[in-house]
Amino acid sequence: MEATCSHLLDLLLISFFLLSPRAFAADTNTFSKGRNITDNETLVSANGAFTMGFFSPGVSTKRYLGIWFSVSRDAVCWVANSDRPVNDNSGVLMVSNTGSLLLLDGSGRIAWSSNSSSTSPVEAQLLDNGNLVVRNPGSANNLWRSFEHPSNVLLSGMKVGKDFSSGDEWYLTSWRSADDPSPGAYTRKLDTAGRPDNIVWQGDVKTFRTGPWNGVRFVGIPEVLTYQEDLFEYQMVISPREVTYGYNVKPGAAFTYVVLTDNGEVRRLVWDAGSRAWQINYQGPRDVCDAYGRCGAFNLCNVSAAATSFCGCVRGFGLASSSRISGRCRRNVALDCAKGATTDGFVLVAGVKLPDTHNASVDTGITVDACRARCLANCSCLAYAAADTSGGGDGSGCIMWTDDLLDMRYVDRGQDLYLRLARSELPPSLALPPPPPPPSRARPFPTGPVIGASVGSLVGIFLIAFLVLVLIRRRRRRRPSNSAPNNSIIPRTPAPTVPSIELSGLRNATGDFSDSNIIGRGGFGIVYEGHLPDGRKVAVKKLIPSSPTEEGSNAFMREVEVMSKLRHGNLLQLLSYCQEGNERVLVYEYMKHKSLNLYIFGDARLRALLNWERRLEIVRGIAKGVAYLHGLSEEVIHRDLKPSNILLDDNWWPKIADFGTAKLFVVDQTDPTLIQSAGYTAPEYSNERHLTLKCDVYSFGIILLEIVSGKRNRTTPTLLSNAWESWNQGRISDLFDPDVAQPEPELLFELERCVQIGLLCVQQSPDDRPAMSAVVAMLNSNSLQIRAPKRPELDSRAEPPLHEADRSTQEASGTSRSSYSSVYLT
Ligand SMILES: *[C@@H]1O[C@H](CO)[C@@H](O)[C@H](O)[C@H]1NC(C)=O
Ligand SMILES: *[C@@H]1O[C@H](CO)[C@@H](O)[C@H](O)[C@H]1NC(C)=O
Ligand SMILES: *[C@@H]1O[C@H](CO)[C@@H](O)[C@H](O)[C@H]1NC(C)=O
Ligand SMILES: *[C@@H]1O[C@H](CO)[C@@H](O)[C@H](O)[C@H]1NC(C)=O
Ligand SMILES: *[C@@H]1O[C@H](CO)[C@@H](O)[C@H](O)[C@H]1NC(C)=O
Ligand SMILES: *[C@@H]1O[C@H](CO)[C@@H](O)[C@H](O)[C@H]1NC(C)=O
Repeated sequence: MEATCSHLLDLLLISFFLLSPRAFAADTNTFSKGRNITDNETLVSANGAFTMGFFSPGVSTKRYLGIWFSVSRDAVCWVANSDRPVNDNSGVLMVSNTGSLLLLDGSGRIAWSSNSSSTSPVEAQLLDNGNLVVRNPGSANNLWRSFEHPSNVLLSGMKVGKDFSSGDEWYLTSWRSADDPSPGAYTRKLDTAGRPDNIVWQGDVKTFRTGPWNGVRFVGIPEVLTYQEDLFEYQMVISPREVTYGYNVKPGAAFTYVVLTDNGEVRRLVWDAGSRAWQINYQGPRDVCDAYGRCGAFNLCNVSAAATSFCGCVRGFGLASSSRISGRCRRNVALDCAKGATTDGFVLVAGVKLPDTHNASVDTGITVDACRARCLANCSCLAYAAADTSGGGDGSGCIMWTDDLLDMRYVDRGQDLYLRLARSELPPSLALPPPPPPPSRARPFPTGPVIGASVGSLVGIFLIAFLVLVLIRRRRRRRPSNSAPNNSIIPRTPAPTVPSIELSGLRNATGDFSDSNIIGRGGFGIVYEGHLPDGRKVAVKKLIPSSPTEEGSNAFMREVEVMSKLRHGNLLQLLSYCQEGNERVLVYEYMKHKSLNLYIFGDARLRALLNWERRLEIVRGIAKGVAYLHGLSEEVIHRDLKPSNILLDDNWWPKIADFGTAKLFVVDQTDPTLIQSAGYTAPEYSNERHLTLKCDVYSFGIILLEIVSGKRNRTTPTLLSNAWESWNQGRISDLFDPDVAQPEPELLFELERCVQIGLLCVQQSPDDRPAMSAVVAMLNSNSLQIRAPKRPELDSRAEPPLHEADRSTQEASGTSRSSYSSVYLT
């Protein structure tokens, strides 16, 4: 492929290509010891395409040894002494006795060396593709190649990327300026982690990337399709040994090269012989959306969307209110995935430059369907895409992202990305898949006795769902708003996102609200078991009829709207609602196993049903649900967390209830309708009505310790100090509910950490309690450091409860018209 020696014909041909006025001295493409290249001499490749010699870039008078396209002296492709120019015309290139090419200045100082070495004589040759090589005459092995020392130009036949066996990496480095070829601010490297992607760096900051290789091209450069076909073929090598990229011009094609300019632009130039000028076929970055990370994580950049400063969150994500300026997108609804059990799904994000794949994992050997399954099964997988679309159709292979999706934009002929979202965020056709399979290690569970034992105690008991949900704005927390409680602080938005359902449909579902279908009863309504036509079992709560005033109707709709937006795998999901005449009905998920208090405080048999693994899962689930409420842009304080508000589904997956139906109070710390549940209320709230997210953290801590101990804080005033003593003395099993079989040794450690976290949550001072997000992190990692809790104080529980929410005596009082009560059964 490469020319090996010169001959007479070459010499004749060269004479036709001698375009440089100074190149007349070149008589061959090869030189060796005994011939020096001085400043007024050049070496020309056999085909005449390339010339090597001394030049001065731009306005500089300094001399550099370089290689350029013979047709165009300023199209310099390679520079030897880029950072050690020769100041005059005294430079000379020679072959040393030890086998290297040496560039000496007039004083004999080495301005550059190939550093190659050989004990036998060597020669240097400028090949037809512009590659200068050093080798032993007659040998096919090159001791040195200029292509392996790229400057700012990628020529046909060169490659950039990495050779993993030798550790070599080849990349382009920009010139400092048009007059100075010394290394400039930019480099362009092939990122070989993830899917290969050409990335321009300014120092250690990414400024532009082509997007990952898709088997045919780089996905962010669609225009290549318009000129590539006649011009060149990509040469992409992806193997365990090397990942490199280059291109080969097609026979007879025009001269072309890729250059990284001194201001960080990448250009592909093509020589137009007619006009004797270089045409720019491609130049990037092309527009604002090509600027790396122009928009934040989980954004999509759209060049047509100047009104939103080009950025917008991907589906299922929204701007956090605190970060509208930074453009940080946050997930609307947390994913629901644990140990392979998930209700999540994927939404298609079509036609994009795929996000940065640097940290993505890639497998080209599987199908896209297998990729989807693999992503779904791995809770850390946030998105996937085909790795290779060369075969057409959906493509093949798998890219899986597990961290922030960065630098995504719409692009012509872009690729399809599948983004993982919580079930409730999926488009309707994908929504409501069958319920998640139980966690793989969950064993079949005897449910008969549970229901038998619980029905008696359940029927007729309907917990008040005093509202408990508080939406607040952080800045309002200290200075309560004067707005009337009826003024929703939720921005006006259109209809609720859950569908409405006709009353007649609900009558069919519940046997015309037959008494035999009643599963719960409360002051604000009656809860029925219902069966939808599609076979789904639901809980239907029919609220006490009220006279249909416009104000009441608006309040109802507002609350339905808010409830429908709070979506998380650990929150009880509102499925639908109905408002007809004076009837108001809410439809919820059906929770087969009722509420947590039945088990942890139940008889020995019920307690034993929740083994330690399950209890830990429940603790983690509750923490996630609360963290979700706290993490919303309008932070939501639940305010009445307690075991009777934790419902358990078929898989014993916990779902937090009791938010939603009731009024959404703007925080008003003197609001007399605020309630507290004995045993779960944080001291600062009992005493000073100081309500913060940390009040929920306190309640969560109590629930955690109750789950572990099987004792009620309210009736066991020593629970906290006992818990602290057991933890502090390393006798954690003293605390355990004796009706639950002793934990396996490996669980003991987790339980001990769990108790420690619970103790942190019930610290007297709110500042000593961790944020809920930190609790989730600590519960899900066995390696995170956890602070030592202080001994809890006892005074907080001395105060008598204002309201006894575990009793239904107040249900009838109906604190306010819009308190619809949400727990449908407990
Ligand atoms: C080449 O240049 C070197 C260094 O200037 C010099 O020593 C040598 O004699 C030159 N050789 C020829 C053949 O001119
Ligand atoms: C090149 O310059 C050297 C002196 O630097 C001179 O001896 C030689 O004759 C010149 N060669 C040509 C072809 O001009
Ligand atoms: C040759 O070696 C010297 C000294 O190690 C080094 O500074 C120089 O960059 C090397 N040159 C090339 C072309 O690798
Ligand atoms: C980009 O924004 C424009 C203007 O808002 C819009 O019309 C267009 O649909 C957007 N493009 C995509 C792919 O969403
Ligand atoms: C990859 O992970 C590292 C370490 O977590 C992080 O610093 C970097 O930003 C990530 N890069 C991308 C492109 O996601
Ligand atoms: C999930 O994917 C990540 C990233 O590919 C991987 O490191 C981790 O081992 C996977 N987890 C499981 C359970 O497969």
